[in-house]
Amino acid sequence: MILGIETSCDETSAAVVYHGQILSNVVSSQIDLHSVYGGVVPEVASRQHLKMIDYVICEALHRAKIPSQNLEAICVTRGPGLPSALLVGVSAARGLALRLEKPLLPIHHMEAHLYSPDLEPQPFIALVVSGGHTLLVHAPRFGEHSVLGQTMDDAAGEAFDKVAQLIGLGYPGGPQIEKAAKSGRSNAFDFPRPMLESSDWNFSFSGLKTAVRRTVASLRKDSQTPLDLKQIADLSASFQSAVVEVLVEKTIRAAKKFCVQQIAISGGVACNQFLRMELERCCRKEGMILKFADCTLCTDNAAMIALLAEKKLRSGVTPPKEWDIEPDWKLTAD
Ligand code: KG4
Ligand code: ZN
Repeated sequence: MILGIETSCDETSAAVVYHGQILSNVVSSQIDLHSVYGGVVPEVASRQHLKMIDYVICEALHRAKIPSQNLEAICVTRGPGLPSALLVGVSAARGLALRLEKPLLPIHHMEAHLYSPDLEPQPFIALVVSGGHTLLVHAPRFGEHSVLGQTMDDAAGEAFDKVAQLIGLGYPGGPQIEKAAKSGRSNAFDFPRPMLESSDWNFSFSGLKTAVRRTVASLRKDSQTPLDLKQIADLSASFQSAVVEVLVEKTIRAAKKFCVQQIAISGGVACNQFLRMELERCCRKEGMILKFADCTLCTDNAAMIALLAEKKLRSGVTPPKEWDIEPDWKLTAD
């Protein structure tokens, strides 16, 4: 049984897994605290992690119905993430591992997102789309992955959050834009599809955000007048469809180029039903299979950290002796 701990951004989470089964996955979200600021405030995040970490760990052990002595190992997110937030999880994990005399395995947050879907044992292309990252990854086999492309500026989730703020929706923007888009027209505004035609695998979303900002300015009579519901719905649908078109097309193109039949999507933006449906439609057309985890495993959680740690430990990975948090840790193969 493995205990996982995650505090890289704005969720304090602990989970217990056993042979690929999630026995508990406790997530204390800080969304309400940060929403008043329109985004994550690092200082507020680390204070809240500090407040919640003990409770979340105890609750994860309690729900899994196991005494801490029965744990085989402990694992924790080492990076990437907010330095002061990562420190809270890593310090708690270190203390516990020392007291219980258990091995402590540091885990890469994005690698955990990458492997969170229940994958078939065959090569895959993964689209990892979160608030901080947008990665297109080629993985010939488990543990062997290379980043083909990434965002040049805003991450996909960050673009959703910023555009939501521009059009008067709250934080986090992704779920709110998805909801508003349901009653909007995706062709109401002709937003750009950034880097769709470029020959590399990178993404860029800041130009799209600027296009939305200009449209919002032209729709408003003056800076005091808010947009009406129809305008918000149309802007949401048109923006969402531009982002999804770029993500889906480049992912499918990569799968064809690398002759891969399996596609995985993960990270918070993978909760987006429109993205899932569009990718599913294209995968079906191309005879590819699409894998994604339940939404609770797409947004930040400790179960994905513990599940990856378990796979690593079973495949013979040994915990490093000396290591520290790595806020800018890049995703590379082991
Ligand atoms: O993976 P995650 O929980 O945290 C990071 O590691 O960043 O992702 C959070 C991001 C936020 O930007 C949020 O707006 C976005 O995921 N998100 C969505 C949806 N649900 C969450 N974006 C689009 N549609 C959604 N339904
Ligand atoms: Zn994440």
